[in-house]
Amino acid sequence: MHTFNLNPATAIAAVAFLSALPTAQAGLYLKSSPVTQVDAKNFDRIINKSNHTSVVEFYAPWCGHCQNLKPAYEKAAKNLEGLAHVAAVNCDEDENKQLCGMMGVKGFPTLKTVRPGKKGKPIVEDYNGPRTAKGIVDAVVEKINNHVKRVTDKDIDSFLSTNNDTAKAILFTDKGTTSALLKSIAIDFLDVISIAQIRDKETKANELFGIKSYPTLVLLPGGDKESVVYDGELKKDAMVKFLSQAGEPNPDPAPSKAKGEKKGDKKSEKKDKKASSKSSGSSSETTSTESTDSTDAPTEKPVEVAPPIPAITEAAKLTKECLNNKAHTCVLAFVPSAHGETAEKALTSLAELAAKHAHAQRHLFPFFEVHNDNEVTSSVFKSLELSGEVEIIAINGKRGWWRHYEGDFTPESVESWIDAIRLSEGTKKKVPAGVITEAVEEKPAETVEVKVEESVKVEVEPESESPSKGAEPTPEATKEAPKHEEL
Ligand SMILES: *[C@@H]1O[C@H](CO)[C@@H](O)[C@H](O)[C@H]1NC(C)=O
Ligand SMILES: *[C@@H]1O[C@H](CO)[C@@H](O)[C@H](O)[C@H]1NC(C)=O
Ligand SMILES: *[C@@H]1O[C@H](CO)[C@@H](O)[C@H](O)[C@H]1NC(C)=O
Repeated sequence: MHTFNLNPATAIAAVAFLSALPTAQAGLYLKSSPVTQVDAKNFDRIINKSNHTSVVEFYAPWCGHCQNLKPAYEKAAKNLEGLAHVAAVNCDEDENKQLCGMMGVKGFPTLKTVRPGKKGKPIVEDYNGPRTAKGIVDAVVEKINNHVKRVTDKDIDSFLSTNNDTAKAILFTDKGTTSALLKSIAIDFLDVISIAQIRDKETKANELFGIKSYPTLVLLPGGDKESVVYDGELKKDAMVKFLSQAGEPNPDPAPSKAKGEKKGDKKSEKKDKKASSKSSGSSSETTSTESTDSTDAPTEKPVEVAPPIPAITEAAKLTKECLNNKAHTCVLAFVPSAHGETAEKALTSLAELAAKHAHAQRHLFPFFEVHNDNEVTSSVFKSLELSGEVEIIAINGKRGWWRHYEGDFTPESVESWIDAIRLSEGTKKKVPAGVITEAVEEKPAETVEVKVEESVKVEVEPESESPSKGAEPTPEATKEAPKHEEL
């Protein structure tokens, strides 16, 4: 039995290694972008608690489809300014991973619309339409909640007399539909000014206010105050300013209670405020989608999926890559050959992780898909006494250890396990006899990793066992290892 002394070189190597761990890349959107960048800390306040509809892009900066979407998404943001929030979450940031997981993000980019539902619980829906500015704008506009009352000759009297003291505003229009602009104004003034629209056909109501042209906006400040006819531009900021004489619009997002939020969030808040009060640049009767239709072609692939990890279906190949006494660390995902939902989730998490490391040109041990219902490759699965529908293990033939992943198969959970292995942390088990075979001398092993630059060194896992272990793991000592050792 060996004992291990604390080796200063190893300690230094470990520190250097720590600093080489993945760090998130800068986000895709600049501060000056019309797209609001939100994160785990302000998502609830800016998106969930808003009375306005939002579209949120969950992305990773390394993802090509996310980069391709950027111009269309920024264009959509410009078009929706003042009408809805257009936001993005960088799922590559550690602090946002939990949020992205919670929102069910499985590939990049993922677009979701969020709008207020009953009892303050937001309604979240996937956007799977074309990845064009027009497609996004049209879908979001459709999801803007409508608080505009349609008033007719029949109910004009009751409309005017209820809550007499509350301010009201009426848009007289010759259109049968309610514009996104008016809907967004009604949302800004929820519980402050009650917004209605009356069609030109409603003769009695039109005559009551002496309406001669359309559209005409009339403000009834409440009580016995005189009504005021708006004569400015039909743009959001000017209209909001006009209506504000009867009551301030709700601040959106609600002011931060400084709870758990950093100063840095102030910026997005300010930007957000600016965006929601700014004119959409559209007339009141259209949603300004005219300029969005022509230029961008629809993208075929709806969601970018990282290239799948390679599958091994032959025992000889598995032995050659991972299960011989010269093999370095391999990560094996045992899944049924007909992938279920869990298998897809696990494989996607690993594929994204591999893509992320490849993108950063960081070498990482190879990941393989292995079928646990394949006669040939399932023997390892049985030898390791694995039984789950989906199991992920790491195995090192040279050193004779394996590690068992326990947890859900979300990207962030799998990633922290992989990071622990890179740091040589966590519970190792001794590989049972018969699994690892003598390496066969043959031509140089082919590279199985995705793109690796020539200059990048191979696996940098520390050579010795973690000093705290003090001894070679034995099956007895490690099998029932305490959970808290795992990350
Ligand atoms: C936002 O709302 C959705 C839907 O109710 C919920 O699943 C999610 O956890 C909320 N996010 C935050 C950060 O509160
Ligand atoms: C509210 O009531 C007052 C007094 O009865 C009346 O003069 C005023 O016109 C009413 N306002 C509206 C908007 O109906
Ligand atoms: C949402 O609307 C309510 C009134 O229904 C208002 O009190 C609240 O301030 C609004 N919230 C935001 C964030 O605008």
